[in-house]
Amino acid sequence: MGRPPSNSSGDDGNGRTETSVITRPRARTARPPLYKVLLLNDDYTPMEFVVHVLERFFGLSYSHAVEIMLTVHKKGVAVVGVFAYEIAETKVAQVMDFARRNQRALDAGMVALPDAGRVAMWNARPEDMVLPVARLHAIQPLRPLHDALCALGVATDTHAAPPYALAHVRAGRSRAATLGQVAEALAAVPPGAAVLIDGQKGDGIEGILAACRRVLAVGEPLSQGHGKLFAVVRPETLPQAVTDWAEAARSRCGPDGLIRRPGGFSADGPDRGSLLLADLLPRDLKGHVADLGAGAGTLAAAILASPGVTRLDLVEADALALDDARANVLDPRAAFLWADATRWRPGPVCDAVVCNPPFHSGRAADPGLGRAFIQSAAAALAPGGSFWMVANRHLPYEGSLGEVFGEVTRIADIGGFKVFRARKPVAAMRRAVDHGARRGVARTSRGRGR
Ligand SMILES: C[S@@+](CC[C@H](N)C(=O)[O-])C[C@H]1O[C@@H](n2cnc3c(N)ncnc32)[C@H](O)[C@@H]1O
Repeated sequence: MGRPPSNSSGDDGNGRTETSVITRPRARTARPPLYKVLLLNDDYTPMEFVVHVLERFFGLSYSHAVEIMLTVHKKGVAVVGVFAYEIAETKVAQVMDFARRNQRALDAGMVALPDAGRVAMWNARPEDMVLPVARLHAIQPLRPLHDALCALGVATDTHAAPPYALAHVRAGRSRAATLGQVAEALAAVPPGAAVLIDGQKGDGIEGILAACRRVLAVGEPLSQGHGKLFAVVRPETLPQAVTDWAEAARSRCGPDGLIRRPGGFSADGPDRGSLLLADLLPRDLKGHVADLGAGAGTLAAAILASPGVTRLDLVEADALALDDARANVLDPRAAFLWADATRWRPGPVCDAVVCNPPFHSGRAADPGLGRAFIQSAAAALAPGGSFWMVANRHLPYEGSLGEVFGEVTRIADIGGFKVFRARKPVAAMRRAVDHGARRGVARTSRGRGR
């Protein structure tokens, strides 16, 4: 007997029960078509660049990347991977863009890549490297960018280590600092070698070009979007103006007796916000204190004026600012830590944290950075520890402070700055210890404390 057409379970009319399963009609999902990404031999892209691109954009291991590069070299073509259309398209666009940026100076016939020797790039960024990657020495004093370059396998340092065969300076916002780096680059390459300089119009690249033209042989500039790229040639003897650029970029003494570097934070003297915070800091701070984003050490004297302070960590992402801090702060209680304060955690927790946080990432105002500093401060503090912070009046930090600290007091609101004192709740300690005890971690320390 046939099964009733759409019966589910129940009587089959003969007193017997029969069970059948109703299934929902399966939605037909078509698989997206997949596309092969092919790499073709062009006879002039250096092999190490191909390997770098395969590692960076296709996530291949070094040995796999070398294998594909050799296949391309021998057979003229190799399959790099198989992807859905959008992913394949994005990867190809990324590689083309990267190759174009790296090749532009070479393609433009601006400079000839010397056969041997390292290529230096001042202010190198992960997204903008000059060829050849294997010979590149990236100079990047900012810790987060430095770490990103290292993660890409680029040889990176905070300071130059000449000699170089070719140099590239990525201009920053400070004219004095950029010209100082051009002077450093010229001194780091042999006579006749090129120094490439590129930068944005908004950062004053036109003025740098004009200054170079006055004293050096300058090639035809290449305009690119809002920027310019040009090459200068290192003469046999460096002109006096270049020596002056180097001199003008050195750290100099401000009205408060501390040295600061042109291009660094508040280069001409102490920031008014820092002075206000220094004034309001109590003189009975105790134990282990950290200054997050310590710069050239402006706040150190006020912190170390408390005799009860046993250690001061100056945590700063800019290695050049930290060089100045080392020269400014000679107290043996000071330790100089080149670190990203948003990720830094002290070994033993701190009794107090002091901070004038940065509020810019590059050119853009970024209160998110200050908020990340507030969170780091809270994580670094011992329960009951205190946090002291100054900020521009318009910056909205109250919410973030309230979220991570028990007690927040605005102790001053003067001249466009506000100063906060906050305390990490002691209850947080109990919660943390209880939590640790549940995980079997804090039992011994609890026992010892009694
Ligand atoms: C507003 S300035 C204050 C400098 C110094 N404390 C003072 O009062 O003069 C902020 C400092 O934070 C540093 N900074 C920016 N981002 C950082 C980060 N992620 N980690 C550590 N320091 C950072 C900057 O280089 C700068 O020196």
